[in-house]
Amino acid sequence: MTRMVWMAGLLALGLGGTLAAGTAGAQTDPVAQRRDEMKRLGAHLEAIKKIVDAGEPVGPIEARAEEMRGYFATLPTLFPPGSTEGSKALPAVWSDRAGFEQAAANATAAAAKLAAAAGSNDAAATATAFREVAGSCGACHRNFRGR
Ligand code: HEC
Repeated sequence: MTRMVWMAGLLALGLGGTLAAGTAGAQTDPVAQRRDEMKRLGAHLEAIKKIVDAGEPVGPIEARAEEMRGYFATLPTLFPPGSTEGSKALPAVWSDRAGFEQAAANATAAAAKLAAAAGSNDAAATATAFREVAGSCGACHRNFRGR
């Protein structure tokens, strides 16, 4: 009986994996994918702001900041040339590629700083790094996102 349950668990895991892979495979539209990711960034930022504003322990921010860092590090790859259909990305994303990659690198560095500050439970450093991350969103949007 235990063995059956165990097998069922494995099957469920296997199926979950297949489903997840299927969704990822279907998500070949980089515009949809990056917009989804951006929304998740927005949700992370909001959740982090709440913790910082409330003066709550900052430890839980680390995982969110780490996920943001990982996203920023690969962000430019979600903007392949020609991926403009239904997108608000400005032509500068491709014409000023170096500037765009620099903006992503700045955001990556800011998120890493935030993760480190939160990881060491340093509330003051976390608040400073949080403002830097938020600023890095705006800095990129100003130059590379239309309205
Ligand atoms: C390196 C540049 C860059 C950085 C950094 C960046 N973004 Fe963006 N963001 C963009 C671009 C370009 C678009 C437009 C994407 C499109 O429409 O194809 C966008 C779109 C968005 C959108 C709109 C998504 C939608 O539904 O269309 C949100 C929300 C967003 N970003 C939030 C954030 C937040 C929050 C951060 C920081 C934590 C951030 N972004 C950092 C470049 C950036």
